[in-house]
Amino acid sequence: MEILEIETRPIEGQKPGTSGLRKKTHVFMSPHYLENYVQSIFDGIGGVGGKVLVLGGDGRYFNAQAAQVILRMAAANGAAKVIVGVGALMSTPAASHLIRKRGTDGGLILSASHNPGGPEEDFGLKYNMPNGGPATEGVSDRIHAATQTLTRYKIAETADVDLSAPGQARLGRMEIEIVDPVEDYAALMEELFDFDALEALFKGGFSMVFDAMHAVTGPYAKAILEGRLGAAPGTVINAEPKPDFGGGHPDPNPIWAKPLVDRMMSEDAPDFGAASDGDGDRNMILGKGIYITPSDSLAVLAANAHLAPAYEGGLKGVARSMPTSAAVDRVAEAMGISCYETPTGWKFFGNLLDAGRATLCGEESAGTGSDHVREKDGLWAVLLWLNILAASGKSVAELMEAHWQRYGRNYYSRHDYEDVDAGVAGEMVEELREQLGTLPGQKVGGLTVESAEEFAYDDPVDGSRSERQGLIFGFEGGGRAVIRLSGTGTVGATIRLYLERLETDPAKLGDDPQEALAPVIAAAEALAGIKARSGRDGPNVIT
Ligand code: G1P
Ligand code: ZN
Repeated sequence: MEILEIETRPIEGQKPGTSGLRKKTHVFMSPHYLENYVQSIFDGIGGVGGKVLVLGGDGRYFNAQAAQVILRMAAANGAAKVIVGVGALMSTPAASHLIRKRGTDGGLILSASHNPGGPEEDFGLKYNMPNGGPATEGVSDRIHAATQTLTRYKIAETADVDLSAPGQARLGRMEIEIVDPVEDYAALMEELFDFDALEALFKGGFSMVFDAMHAVTGPYAKAILEGRLGAAPGTVINAEPKPDFGGGHPDPNPIWAKPLVDRMMSEDAPDFGAASDGDGDRNMILGKGIYITPSDSLAVLAANAHLAPAYEGGLKGVARSMPTSAAVDRVAEAMGISCYETPTGWKFFGNLLDAGRATLCGEESAGTGSDHVREKDGLWAVLLWLNILAASGKSVAELMEAHWQRYGRNYYSRHDYEDVDAGVAGEMVEELREQLGTLPGQKVGGLTVESAEEFAYDDPVDGSRSERQGLIFGFEGGGRAVIRLSGTGTVGATIRLYLERLETDPAKLGDDPQEALAPVIAAAEALAGIKARSGRDGPNVIT
């Protein structure tokens, strides 16, 4: 095996966003692009000499080739061992678990999450740390700094490694362990949940559909739901991971998983519906005739987690990203536990989980998780819901209704304006930022602004500060609008507008969040003028 040192030059724009580096696939496939970034990860974490890494991905187009490049580069950079999933597949939560279980020096995950895949679509690469969680801002900054000074990368010249079955291989002195990507993860789920009760639930005729959206969770869901728990064959649909996710967006929300939503709203809907995203960390939860928002799901899970074996001792605390609704705050208050509000992105939960301050975490973007790994975990959320349904004997709708009656309902919606001119979006944020001091007391679109601030987070564990994490506008009467720019898009800018209003009067609980939020939506538009600035009639995606 010959080790080559290839001369290269820094490539512009290799700055990790909310979750690793995401670019168009053809950009990642362009000369030196992937190699430069991989070498920068290695350099940014202090080299990989003698280290052990986990490697896997969501199976999207270029996944398999990129994995081979990473193996050759790890070998050339002196790594001791890489543990890789069969076919270079591994869900993000499973990778997080494997990093922790084997005590490795971290891992590389090939994924652009819920973004579509294919030669014309998106690709991504993220580094996870030895705690199994996404690279912190500090580490991401070092990786980015390395991309800006890079002059060479190291790569071994060798044939592709056969990753088609579990086993051992070598590249020079580097050991490669090829593992079944499902096995360890399934064993962990069995430790956390009451599998006997779940098996009995399915035996008793409980029906569900799990839409894997042609992404990586297919094999996991099949093995656990159909294989281990005895759910009817065919429960898991779109179960085969495909390089282009069957041409869809593997994003489990009412827009991209519409066929599932339609089925759950139909007369002959099964008892439970769920979906997961490209790399298996997001989830969507539905009951017969009801869609559960991710913010509500977090709150219901927090209120009922004690029904599952892993959490029967209670929760140490909960955490949510700032734009996520305050539904879980009300549960935490009732339980007398802490509720932390963090910036968007799972990396901000890591310290709280490591320090034992939080047990459950969640984001409005369909991410829920716990201290069992250091990533959000789609299938885990589904299994916790199932465990709660089995233990309580209630339906999804009954649980949700009872929850709203007890805690009130935080009406919630997110409006996305995608692919807006980056200059226009940046200018909007700048202008709003300048007005923050003068907005309180002003009337906008029928509501009076009560507070206007920019979110900054002081990590209570390591004392680090993260600024400019979103603009928050509070309105008299309790409404809230948050505006921030996405950090995961690959074209232009995506403006995210998060809307929320709490209703505690049981007599006023209605069905349509857009209706319940109409005054807040109007006030936000009057304030920010997103439609006018972007030249759009409305958001591209409403969740
Ligand atoms: C989005 C979500 C965020 C999530 C991230 C990675 O980031 O909003 O909650 O952690 O994807 O899945 P954004 O594009 O908003 O920066
Ligand atoms: Zn994801």
